[in-house]
Amino acid sequence: MRRPKRFFVETWGCQMNELDSQRLSSQLMQQGILPTREPQQADLILLNSCSVREKAAQKAYSRLGEYRLLKRSRPDLLLGFCGCVAQQEGDRALERLPDLDFVIGPARVGELEDILRQRLLGRRVVATGFPDATQRNYDLDLLAREGAYKGMVTIIEGCDKKCTFCIVPTTRGPEQNRKMESILDEVKHLLDYGFLEIELLGQTVNHWRDPETGEDFAVLLNRVASIPGLERLRFVTSYPRDFTQEMVDQLAKHSNICPYLHLPVQSGSNRILRLMGRGYDIELYLDLIERLREGRPGIALSTDIIVGFPGETDDDFEATMDLVANVRFASLFAFKYSPRPGTAAPRLKLPEVTREVADDRLQRLFALQKEIQLEINQTLVGEAFDILVTSWGKKPGTQTGRTPCHRLVHFEYGDEPIPLGTLTRIRVEKAYPHSLIGGLDKVDSQVASESSTEVMISA
Ligand code: SAH
Ligand code: F3S
Repeated sequence: MRRPKRFFVETWGCQMNELDSQRLSSQLMQQGILPTREPQQADLILLNSCSVREKAAQKAYSRLGEYRLLKRSRPDLLLGFCGCVAQQEGDRALERLPDLDFVIGPARVGELEDILRQRLLGRRVVATGFPDATQRNYDLDLLAREGAYKGMVTIIEGCDKKCTFCIVPTTRGPEQNRKMESILDEVKHLLDYGFLEIELLGQTVNHWRDPETGEDFAVLLNRVASIPGLERLRFVTSYPRDFTQEMVDQLAKHSNICPYLHLPVQSGSNRILRLMGRGYDIELYLDLIERLREGRPGIALSTDIIVGFPGETDDDFEATMDLVANVRFASLFAFKYSPRPGTAAPRLKLPEVTREVADDRLQRLFALQKEIQLEINQTLVGEAFDILVTSWGKKPGTQTGRTPCHRLVHFEYGDEPIPLGTLTRIRVEKAYPHSLIGGLDKVDSQVASESSTEVMISA
């Protein structure tokens, strides 16, 4: 019998890329091509790249270089370059890598089948650019969700903000909103399929508006959270300035909206925020956090911070440290500034922060956050949570899951493993800065449900 064809996808970057990889995979599976975890066994390799920082972008070409070596011994192997670096590079990628078979930008992932067909006819296609959202292929059946525990749903593509450090508007194009009905249909489809958790995606997810009725994200949240069977609703990424009181009110109203919010602040200094073109100040950010904590006590907040943005002084950085100390985020992602082609920041001609200073600031920030996270996590010891089981643990007999506030929990499952993608009740026994250790909650369900109220983690 002939061996079935196999594909391998490597994914870098954000949730949007993760979802794009699922969309690519599903198109292949529909053609009877099966996934493999081993690039050596694949007949088709796709690299879904990220260009948000220079390191990730460079990595794309070095990975492609490694995959090309496989092609030497197997000339039939097809190699496709996808994602944000592919969008940026376009034709140049084919010139640079003569044995690359095709290039697909993020807005064109739905066209893979056609691109493969053209390849078989001898054409090396470059599919980049941004077709109108109405032409985007959101076909429900296209979306393979294999191995995933959450159903991701794009509601807004691209970004119209002009943060001076960010390449995303160039690589993912202008903002395009998807229609409410189409979003609701996909959510219902995923719930029917068995998902308990839905994650709405967009670069500025809360800037969504229905392109026809103008209804905003607060209305959408209300509609989605009201769909029967939806246990957990999350959304990423929220833009602070666009987070209205009506959205806060939805978090207060619907207990199935997770008590977790990712709210990138980028810097604690108003001067740097202005240079970044973020369009808000720290006072607006802190006021929003206060209202969120009032509306949804115990909400876990996470953020993104860039250190070493050009012109960042010691005082500016201290303002960021003060902000982090005061807000007490449940988690924090921090990056060293990386100049990106075509963005405005390098043109501002601001003094560069040296690598040593930026490294030092990053380390100090991580050290502070680690302390805070450990303190917060220790307050959770003894609490019980419903955990969405997401994967197998590294140690035999263990599994891993997420609390409603998105904290990682490792636990021993006892006699029988818990099916992935389902909920189980866990009591926290031990806390680390980045994870919790728990055990199956032995308390009877009556007592368990009484102790299942929201956990206060804010300072
Ligand atoms: N709207 C998206 C932004 C994607 S970029 C979101 O908020 O998720 C994700 C994060 O990468 C940004 O919040 C920022 O902190 C960081 N980032 C973006 N461009 C960067 C750059 N040039 N250098 C360093 N970090 C950057
Ligand atoms: Fe980037 Fe700012 Fe948009 S960080 S994705 S330009 S909101």
